Amino acid sequence: EKGGYKHFMAKEIAEQPSVLGDALRHYLGEGGEIVLPGGGIDFTHVSRVTMVACGTAYLACMTAKYWIEQLAGLPVDVDIASEFRYREPPIPAGTLAVFVSQSGETADTLAALRYCEGRAQRIVSVVNVAESSIARESDLALPILAGAEIGVASTKAFTCQLAVLALVALDAARQRGALDAVTLAAHIQDLRTMPGRLNAALAAGPRVETIARHLAEASDVLFLGRGAMYPLALEGALKLKEISYIHAEGYASGELKHGPIALVDNTVPVIVMAPHNRLFDKTVSNMQEVMARGGKVLLVTDSRGAAEAGDGVWQTLVMPEAPELFTPILYALPAQLLAYHTAVAKGTDVDQPRNLAKSVTVE
Ligand code: M6R
Repeated sequence: EKGGYKHFMAKEIAEQPSVLGDALRHYLGEGGEIVLPGGGIDFTHVSRVTMVACGTAYLACMTAKYWIEQLAGLPVDVDIASEFRYREPPIPAGTLAVFVSQSGETADTLAALRYCEGRAQRIVSVVNVAESSIARESDLALPILAGAEIGVASTKAFTCQLAVLALVALDAARQRGALDAVTLAAHIQDLRTMPGRLNAALAAGPRVETIARHLAEASDVLFLGRGAMYPLALEGALKLKEISYIHAEGYASGELKHGPIALVDNTVPVIVMAPHNRLFDKTVSNMQEVMARGGKVLLVTDSRGAAEAGDGVWQTLVMPEAPELFTPILYALPAQLLAYHTAVAKGTDVDQPRNLAKSVTVE
């Protein structure tokens, strides 16, 4: 059932172009319009969004915050479920509460959802398991259609969560008049090109394998990203520590000089996730600060970024070009592949890492 792959995780990484395509097709009508089930979400009376989840699903929420705020102009709060539930935050009128969970059974996320019952205007969940508790207890459940995810490390669920959340953000922007029809159609068209781009990104596998043999020697790794690449830096670090047991931390690039740069020396690989976009130059200057302290930089970028990065970079991993808005979906792949190949090089149990369960049903 691993379909010829050595691990479920490898199979699930490779499935992403196809399941992402399935998820997008499910939510797009014949004319390319966004069709959410159950009458969709009425964003005209929503004044803020609160998003709650754990682990990788939380990082999907963090990414969606960039999209919803930027596209729809709606303020978004993102919370870790275990913090949210005990903090008991006020839920102002007009709050749309969104819960993201692959399994739909995560105890803290379910408790956070129950806290919002009777408080939030509407409770929406984004789940992979359609008949799960979280799906059942929400007003509207949006399935991500990733198919069964067996590996403990979440991979295809993350990219499918991102796809569904991107569509929700675009729909919110449309309803609130924040996007004209032509721009909206262009974004949807861009989103439709993502499965093909993910497919092209998978070709980086053998190169990642070579780099991973070096990463496997490290005992600490830093991931940096700016803007919507910041959650991806956190995701890269989470994946790496989860399956390779290498200590890894993700930081917003701009936070580097506020503390973490003290960790940098030539034994700490620093993985910089930086597609060539309007923030690229800022990230390059953070990268140079790392290199000036002897840090070994692995730059994950596109061909334009690689051409402009300058000298001194230890390794460059070149990703296909992608529309700026949706680069987080694409950069999930190098994050996953780096963790996967490093874990394989170390010989750890990739699909069943120690101390972890696929579904965390106890708090
Ligand atoms: O089933 P859920 O999406 O609610 O699970 C949330 C986290 O436990 C999960 O994403 C975890 O962080 C993964 N193992 C990360 O790869």
